[in-house]
Amino acid sequence: MPKDPSSTREIPETTIIPRHIAIIMDGNGRWAKKGLLPRIAGHKQGVETVREVIKACVEQRVEFLTLFAFSSENWRRPSDEVSYLMRLFFSALEQEIDKLHENNIQFKVIGDLSKFEPKIIEFIRRGEELTAGNTRLIFTIAANYGGRWDILQAINKILSQATSLPKNLTEEDLAQHLAMSYAPEPDLFIRTAGEYRISNFLLWQLAYTELYFTQTLWPDFNAQELNLAIKSYQQRERKFGRTSEQLKISSDT
Ligand code: IPE
Ligand code: IPE
Ligand code: MG
Repeated sequence: MPKDPSSTREIPETTIIPRHIAIIMDGNGRWAKKGLLPRIAGHKQGVETVREVIKACVEQRVEFLTLFAFSSENWRRPSDEVSYLMRLFFSALEQEIDKLHENNIQFKVIGDLSKFEPKIIEFIRRGEELTAGNTRLIFTIAANYGGRWDILQAINKILSQATSLPKNLTEEDLAQHLAMSYAPEPDLFIRTAGEYRISNFLLWQLAYTELYFTQTLWPDFNAQELNLAIKSYQQRERKFGRTSEQLKISSDT
């Protein structure tokens, strides 16, 4: 079996601690509004939660943490909010990259970076290169990311690399060209702030991911909340299409 099997082609091994957690960090604006603050104050506070969640994942020995920071649809927001988010992203990177490296954390960014300022792209690439050999946690930020964009860019990559037009594509062909081909599919998906949707996040990879939703707003999310999500995950029965009886038989033998 390949190292990271596809959940629709093979039955992945399930572990007590989810290997890969993917989070939609939502509710920064509402958090700010509650405190009569401007929306950007919520984004700033949200960065603190990111720090805490990274630390908690390292402590729990999670292998992959993927955070949705900016969607391909978030450009529709007011331009001053978009430019604040870009500046915040850049300054958080500047401050954190060395610390991530010191802590043996690998840093990756997925998404269409072509719309970003060249200095941000350069900084991201440098951070990725610096941390490429780190093994404690693979920490990915999804920036200007969209699940549909990802599937399309994978197909376009395959088409542009092919010397003749391929007749059929397999799941493996596609999965290998997705932006996050280096990671297993997420075991646990978390969305904060009480919205029950995927908002164009990892559409392909979430096929068999366990979903967890909490009312907590992202700036209020913390290590305890993460542990609650992991506890909920531990109570799930991951069947991948099989029956409960089949699972029982295989765990008895
Ligand atoms: C999530 O918080 C952060 C980003 C999408 C960048 P929101 O800004 O979406 O917060 P709400 O949904 O308005 O409360
Ligand atoms: C999704 O959050 C994207 C990120 C967290 C980056 P949104 O708050 O933008 O999602 P919708 O628009 O409410 O679905
Ligand atoms: Mg939102």
